[in-house]
Amino acid sequence: MGHVGRTIDWADGTVVIVDQCALPAEHRLLRLATVDELIGAIQRLAVRGAPALGAAGALGVALAAHRHGADTAAVHADAGRLATARPTAVNLRWGVERALTKLPGGAEAVLAEALAMLDEDERVNREASAHAARLLLGTCARRPLRLLTHCNTGRLATVDWGTALGVVRHLHAEGELEYVLADETRPLLQGARLTAWELAEEAIPYRLLPDAAAAAAMARGLVDGVVVGADRIAANGDTANKIGTYGLALAAARHGLPFVVVAPSSTVDASLPDGGAIVIEERAPEEVTHVAGNPVAPKDAAVFNPAFDVTPVDLITAVVTEHGVVAGTAR
Ligand code: MRU
Repeated sequence: MGHVGRTIDWADGTVVIVDQCALPAEHRLLRLATVDELIGAIQRLAVRGAPALGAAGALGVALAAHRHGADTAAVHADAGRLATARPTAVNLRWGVERALTKLPGGAEAVLAEALAMLDEDERVNREASAHAARLLLGTCARRPLRLLTHCNTGRLATVDWGTALGVVRHLHAEGELEYVLADETRPLLQGARLTAWELAEEAIPYRLLPDAAAAAAMARGLVDGVVVGADRIAANGDTANKIGTYGLALAAARHGLPFVVVAPSSTVDASLPDGGAIVIEERAPEEVTHVAGNPVAPKDAAVFNPAFDVTPVDLITAVVTEHGVVAGTAR
C-alpha cells in the first residue's frame, strides 16, 4: 500500500482526519464540520497523538472562526472547549492558542496559520527524529539497530512522518535498522492497531509484543535502545507519555540501554518546572474491563486507568526536539 496522505488536513471548509478508531480494519476519512464533531473525535481518539492534537486544535479554531465570523466571543468559547478536550498533551492548547493569535485578521488568517502549522509539524518532526537517529547510532555499538517503542508515534500521531517512529523510518531508510519491537500498548492498543499497521505499510521489520514482555525482551538481549514520544515535557525534562513508558524507562536503566524521547518543541511546557504538576488524563473503566466490547472483569470492578505516566528525567538518556538534545542524562 502506498502513502495515504496526511493524518489531518483541511478540505472544503471541514477538518478531514484519518479515522484511527477504524484502523487497522479500514482506512477511512472523516469530515468534521463543527467544533463539537472535532471534540468528539479527539475524545474517542479518532484523532490522537500529541502533534496531531496540536494540528487539530489549530484547525478547530479555523472551523470556529469560519462559522462564527465576527462573533469573536463565540470563537473564544469554542476554543476554550477545544483546548480542554484532553488534558495531558500540551500541544492541543498550544495549537489552539497559536491559531487564536490570528483571529484579529479574520477566519482566513486563522486558517493560513493553521495550515502553516501543519507544514511545520512535518518539518520539525523530521528534524527531531533525524537528530535522535544520529544520537542512537552514536550511542549503540551493535549494527543494525534493534529498537523497542511504545504506543503510536508515527505519522498517525502527527500530521505526517512521526516522532519516535520517525527515528525508525530514518534508520530503516539508511539500512541501519534490524527490527522494531512494538508494544501493543494496553488498553487501547495503539501499538497493535496503529504502529504495526504503519510499519507493515512501509515494510519495516517489526514484532508486536505484549507490554508486559518488554522488560523480558531487554533481559534476553533483544533490544539496543528504547525510543518513545511525549505528550508533555516539563522544563527539567520530566516527560509525560503513554501509560507504561515509565516502566520501560526503569527497565531500560536496569539493562543499561539508552532511553530516548523524541518530540517537537511544541510538546515542551516551559511553565512547569518538573513533571509533578502535569495533569494525567484518567479514562473510562470500560477500556480496562472490556476487550472489543466483551466484559473480561467482574461487573462493577474498580479500575485505575490513567492514560499517561511521567518518566523522571534522570531515567531519560536524551529528550530530543528539532533543536537537538534539550534534556536528559546525556546532555
Ligand atoms: O492517548 P494517545 O493515543 O493520544 O497517546 C499518544 C501518546 O502517548 C504518544 O506517545 C504521544 O502523543 C507522542 S505522539 C508523537
